[in-house]
Amino acid sequence: MARREDRTEIVMNHFKAIAAMSENRVIGAGNKIPWHLPEDFKWFKKMTKGNVVIIGRKTFESLGKPLPDRINIVLSRHPGLLKREFPDLFGEAWIARGKTAVPFPYQFELPRIGGVTAIDLRIIKNFLKLSPMDSPLDYFICGGAQIYEQALPLCSDLYLTLVKRVVEGDRFFPPFEDRFKLVEEILDRPEFKITHYRNRAL
Ligand SMILES: NC(=O)c1ccc[n+]([C@@H]2O[C@H](COP(=O)([O-])OP(=O)(O)OC[C@H]3O[C@@H](n4cnc5c(N)ncnc54)[C@H](OP(=O)(O)O)[C@@H]3O)[C@@H](O)[C@H]2O)c1
Repeated sequence: MARREDRTEIVMNHFKAIAAMSENRVIGAGNKIPWHLPEDFKWFKKMTKGNVVIIGRKTFESLGKPLPDRINIVLSRHPGLLKREFPDLFGEAWIARGKTAVPFPYQFELPRIGGVTAIDLRIIKNFLKLSPMDSPLDYFICGGAQIYEQALPLCSDLYLTLVKRVVEGDRFFPPFEDRFKLVEEILDRPEFKITHYRNRAL
């Protein structure tokens, strides 16, 4: 078990962000992703498959269903409303927010692969602070804008696809350049490139 002062690093080591933005930093328009890049989607799938995807409620509603072959965590400040809206999805894996439902972070249980649960971001943070460092799973922060904004500082790595054009939109990727340094260009195509950034604090 790590010492108390190591915990910030533990949290960082668990979260990785994955996103795609245009040259003018757009990530969304009308609650959708305003491009269709199958090769980038394959990359997203390859990275996140078998792992945990953490998404905001609006992104979840835009998808309409959990991403298959992954553990889905939807962040909402009102998870009860989601349960009512999607009663079949938020079934047995449902975990309510608040101290009584999750009295101690160790009692946070991830749903099964393909399953979905809705919780508050604070509960995730507490869970990760106390979970073992050798967790076999990666926890991917997958947007949207509100979630990137809050969770990027907790991420060790950022996998960012840059779409090589200016796109109209209403959701933007937050500034990250001060906090992260480019370590690798993973793939370069005429339409987009995939880059890997690492948190400067690590
Ligand atoms: N290009 C990309 O890589 C990418 C990736 C993902 C999404 N997107 C796009 O991004 C857009 C959506 O982004 P968005 O910013 O509008 O919405 P979002 O980040 O997907 O979801 C926002 C919601 O998350 C919940 N939330 C936020 N902070 C929370 C916290 N601290 N604790 C618990 N819950 C919290 C709230 O849900 P409640 O209101 O229920 O409380 C909030 O309304 C869409 O256009 C989508 O297509 C793009």
